[in-house]
Amino acid sequence: MNSGRPDTSLWGPGKAMFDDVYNLSDPAAYWQRLAPLDYQTPEIAAGFYRSLLGSLAVARGRGSLKLIDLCSGYGALPMMLNHDLQPGTLHRLYTDPKRAAQPDDAGRIAYDRNMLQRRKAAAQHRIAGVDVAENALRYSRTVGLIERAFVEDLENDAPSAELARWAADTDVIVEAGGMGYVGEATISKLISAAEDGRKPWVLSMPVRTVDTHGLEEMLADHGYAVEHSSKTFRHRRFHDQSEQTAALDRLADFGIDTGGAEIDGFYRARLLVARPTAEAAAWPIQALLPAA
Ligand SMILES: C[S@@+](CC[C@H](N)C(=O)[O-])C[C@H]1O[C@@H](n2cnc3c(N)ncnc32)[C@H](O)[C@@H]1O
Repeated sequence: MNSGRPDTSLWGPGKAMFDDVYNLSDPAAYWQRLAPLDYQTPEIAAGFYRSLLGSLAVARGRGSLKLIDLCSGYGALPMMLNHDLQPGTLHRLYTDPKRAAQPDDAGRIAYDRNMLQRRKAAAQHRIAGVDVAENALRYSRTVGLIERAFVEDLENDAPSAELARWAADTDVIVEAGGMGYVGEATISKLISAAEDGRKPWVLSMPVRTVDTHGLEEMLADHGYAVEHSSKTFRHRRFHDQSEQTAALDRLADFGIDTGGAEIDGFYRARLLVARPTAEAAAWPIQALLPAA
């Protein structure tokens, strides 16, 4: 049954919903809603992903890689991956009064494009965004954050022929803030579309309340080694007491000892790195990411 709202069954009960700000023509309302909750995952994830992409690009002898950003939204992760930006830029940009004073969407898009143009990173990865939110992807492509926009729901449908073509030689699938909305079904379809011998790395930051067992089993069946950071990272503040209580109950159900985390009022995420076993053995994760 499709209620028109995102499926959060992998998250478990009690998650606050933000879907009314996921598909607007301008990202400002999304970032204004998330500002008090201190949403941090795209920036934290991008720090790790940039290191891993750098190593992979060197190993493959290429300056840049081909990516799929799942649940791409307004392009937060592409922004952090392809630009040199200070922490806090996402929140600052979209709550900037000078930006808000622009007369219309066209003015705001020109403002964003100009800011991004001046901060392009040396390595420009080719990124396709996948999301069910058509307006968000249109914004992201218009300001130049993504090369291709695929408005598709792979939890429920097969990828279009064009997305399957993009996935055939994709180097890395990345995501931030989307795991739980998507999972095993979406990622297995993209991996299955990859050419033989070119399985993409999968880099994700699932919140600890999201059930990733099915995803990890599927990845192992496809010949992947799945590794997690030993550390956890703040994702965002709980919306309210009831969301926190539901999260703590969920973690207890999973047998996870929070060790004091989550009690401070933040969801915690862990880095998940899935790579074909031969590559995982050749490049130990501890050597690539000593801080994780
Ligand atoms: C928390 S937002 C994260 C967006 C972006 N990655 C960020 O960090 O700002 C979750 C995103 O998942 C998208 N989403 C929800 N269900 C989806 C599905 N079945 N397939 C693809 N995207 C989905 C939403 O439209 C939304 O853009």
